[in-house]
Amino acid sequence: MMDQDIAYIMYTEQQLHERENELGKLLTKEYANRRPIFIGILRGVVVFYADMVRRIPIPCDFDFMSVTSYAGTTSSGRVKIDLDTRYDLLGRDVVILEDILDTGRTLKSVHDLLLQRHPASLKICALLDKPERRISDIEADWVGFTIPNEFVVGYGLDFNDSYRNLPYVGVLKPEIYEK
Ligand code: IMP
Ligand code: MG
Repeated sequence: MMDQDIAYIMYTEQQLHERENELGKLLTKEYANRRPIFIGILRGVVVFYADMVRRIPIPCDFDFMSVTSYAGTTSSGRVKIDLDTRYDLLGRDVVILEDILDTGRTLKSVHDLLLQRHPASLKICALLDKPERRISDIEADWVGFTIPNEFVVGYGLDFNDSYRNLPYVGVLKPEIYEK
């Protein structure tokens, strides 16, 4: 089973849900009467996205983007849009949801791209944040947990396309990387 590859659990499902409850209240307050568009960055965000939208009981639009990021020569890097949002963002309140903010290249690129479409507001909500690894000048407006520089899996996050369906955030055993 996948559990055998996990060195330790960083956040249990219950801890994740408790923090999501808090975030949900903050976003509900922020976007009451504004019909925000929640744009999730596929695929890692799917579990967090489903949890968050159910904790924000206000009218909203659901959407997703899929991007491939490349390490560029500039700090912002480059990003290729594989799936774009179907909404016109002009004058809309947009929230980007992401699983983890690491170097920040992905979110910096997506954020700057969406900003060019003149939304009324553009904010970021990330489940996890690894500030030690930041290269790009970008921060999330809401963060679930700030974590040390460890590679984590589960709750949507993958290693080589596995472990996304673990119901917790865990750290892989070193021998899994070294294989
Ligand atoms: P960034 O562009 O470096 O901020 O990378 C963000 C993306 O890298 C995330 O959306 C994840 O897909 C992936 N990533 C970064 N750190 C981790 C991790 O610890 N586990 C799994 N995926 C990660
Ligand atoms: Mg991702």
